[in-house]
Amino acid sequence: MVSAETKDKNRAYLEMDETYVNPVLSRSHKIVAKRGQGSYLYDLNGDAYLDLTTGIAVNNLGHCHPRVVEAVQKQAAELMHTSVVTHHERYIELAKRITEIAPKTLDSVFFGNSGAEAVEGGVKMARYVTGRPAIINFKGSFHGRTMMAMALTTSKLYYRENYEPLPGAVHTAPFPYVYRSYYRNDPDKVIEECLAGLDDLFHQFVSPTQVAAFIVEPVQGEGGYIVAPFKFLQRLREIADKHGILLIIDEVQTGFGRTGKMFAIEHAGVEPDIMLMAKGIAGGMPLAGFATRRDLAKTWLPGRHGSTFGGNPVSCAAALATIDVIVEEKLAERAARVGKDMLTRLQKFAEGKKHVGEVRGLGMMIGIEFNDDKGGPSKEWADKVAARCFDNKMLVLTCGNRGQVIRLIPPLNISDADADKAISILEKAMS
Ligand SMILES: Cc1ncc(COP(=O)(O)O)c(C=O)c1O
Repeated sequence: MVSAETKDKNRAYLEMDETYVNPVLSRSHKIVAKRGQGSYLYDLNGDAYLDLTTGIAVNNLGHCHPRVVEAVQKQAAELMHTSVVTHHERYIELAKRITEIAPKTLDSVFFGNSGAEAVEGGVKMARYVTGRPAIINFKGSFHGRTMMAMALTTSKLYYRENYEPLPGAVHTAPFPYVYRSYYRNDPDKVIEECLAGLDDLFHQFVSPTQVAAFIVEPVQGEGGYIVAPFKFLQRLREIADKHGILLIIDEVQTGFGRTGKMFAIEHAGVEPDIMLMAKGIAGGMPLAGFATRRDLAKTWLPGRHGSTFGGNPVSCAAALATIDVIVEEKLAERAARVGKDMLTRLQKFAEGKKHVGEVRGLGMMIGIEFNDDKGGPSKEWADKVAARCFDNKMLVLTCGNRGQVIRLIPPLNISDADADKAISILEKAMS
């Protein structure tokens, strides 16, 4: 008789992976993906997994959306790469399109390849145009894995540990993580405490006159799916204006309809000076960028920044198609509606459950935070529930400073039936 193990077609590839792939690259699920369609990922056995990870907030239209596939195929057959040797149509069209959907003061766009590269570019620009060295990030933030992005990342120690020295002039201010705050029942007080911490920073570590920019995620992603209170973001804008500091909003994970608006910062009605984008921008193709004000960009001299692959024609064509689908199919609105339904149902389910501390979120960015017996963060419970979901053929990821949060990042066009199925699997897993 053939054992279940020898029938597993993933196994041979997983063994090759162990032999040839740098072990630093850890994957959260031990399956080998063969193909993806809509909300489902299929492994080498042909088993279907309901994908609530969207490749970490990338496949906002689900896997292999036909409009994106068509755009990629057409563009690949015509022009794949020029770099900065020439201009090309898709780059220019996409830059224009981004200015149409971004907050209105942002009217100048640069494209790179990854979120971290967008962070690096945004910070370089902020330093250059202000002539100031310091950057203020926020506790629990995740901005990427390159040296500066890593220096700005405090979501978990292991992203930074043993990589010192990291770039300097980075100062970390408190972030309003309301659920784990002493003032949990008074969010306004949490905001005031954080801003008092920022003020201390200005008096004890760095003068505001030396600060080029604040960099902040409107919803902390890797840090635990923690929604920044809108008032906090508004206050940051005011403080930035007072001191001539630029406000960099990192929309790498929150962008392109994910939170119920095209960009999460719109919920707060705040105009950033620089807005970073990546992940969901191009339906699965590698692309990133940042939008800024032309008056600022004009003081950044030509040639002071660039990228060989950034904004290649195929990725830009994919992004144009992705944005069209999000707008035409009103997927941000759908994310708000269906996300709210999922959140409400999970919050109801969590009532009275000792180990489910908080269910929170914005649109289709939903976090479930788990507690141990004493009310502290529990990675053990989050991992257990994620493993149960996997047993039930559903993929979810964890996040949070202790790995204590399960994050749900479904495709924005997930069907009602699949959204319902996802919550049922989660309820069963949490039971
Ligand atoms: C908010 C945020 N910024 C930046 C990054 C870095 O993006 P990338 O992994 O594409 O470099 C991430 C990645 O998870 C992110 O969530």
